Formats: sequence, C-alpha cells, structure tokens
Amino acid sequence: MKTGITFGTFDMFHYGHLRILQRARALCDRLVVGVSSDEFIASKNKSHGLAFPYEQRAAIVAELRCVDEVFKEECEEKKADYVREHKADVFIIGADYEGRFDWLKEACGVEVVYLPRTPGVSTTALMGKTGGKK
Ligand code: CTP
Repeated sequence: MKTGITFGTFDMFHYGHLRILQRARALCDRLVVGVSSDEFIASKNKSHGLAFPYEQRAAIVAELRCVDEVFKEECEEKKADYVREHKADVFIIGADYEGRFDWLKEACGVEVVYLPRTPGVSTTALMGKTGGKK
C-alpha cells in the first residue's frame, strides 16, 4: 500500500485543483491531503485573503473520490512531521513549487514529485475576476 501526501489551500475549488488531486492519486493507493488552515494562510499574508474558511475548503476536498483523508495543515515548519505522521511514501505538489521540497527526500526518505500545473486557472485569477475579498 503506497501512501501519497499533498498540500494546498484549495480556495474557490477549481479544475486545476481536481486535476492535481486525481494525478496525485494515480501515483499511490491512498491519498492524504493537508488543507491549509485559515491562520496559516493569514500568516503568509496572501494579498487577496481567503474566499472560504477551512471547514468549507476541507469539506469539498474530503468528498472527492480520489481523496482518502484530509487533515489541517497548521504551518510550514511541520511539513516533515506531517509526512512521517501519515507514513507517506510519496510527496506530490504542483510544479509552481519545483525544487522547494527536495529536502524532504533526505529528511523523511519520501519520494518527491512535482506535477505540471493545469494551465489557465488559479484561485488568484478567479479572485480578480470575482472581485474577491481584499
Ligand atoms: N494547482 C495546479 N494547477 C492549477 C492551480 C493549482 O496543479 N492551475 C495545484 C498547485 O500546484 C498545488 C495545488 O493545486 O499543488 C493547490 O494549489 P493552491 O495554491 O491551493 O491553488 P492555486 O489556484 O494555485 O491558488 P493561488 O492562485 O492562490 O496560488
């Protein structure tokens, strides 16, 4: 049984989110997803803020057929702990993070895979279109 782990905000859930989760699940037998907490996002100072709170973002992700488990990601520093806790064999993330998590290979012995982003869609762009919260 190969366990995969991935992370994200998944605000204003869109097709790019669905595709990365489906492609991540294709690389493992069980997919665990860390959804960023509201506090974690606030601490990152994302200029556009969040459209939806953690409970709603996590509820959507948890309902997907390609997702086996969802947990709350509280901060960046715990990445390696989360990987170990969930006994992940493979860490998957979009190529916008290329190279940023290579250190996990040595820290946790996990395989690290960057998948190409789905072109033409992002929460930031959607926020602009809908006049999302500032
Ligand atoms: N992702 C993707 N293709 C997209 C958008 C996101 O593959 N078009 C992936 C990201 O690479 C990440 C995961 O989806 O692995 C969660 O990304 P998240 O930051 O929540 O979504 P974005 O739409 O990228 O949000 P933002 O524009 O605020 O960065």
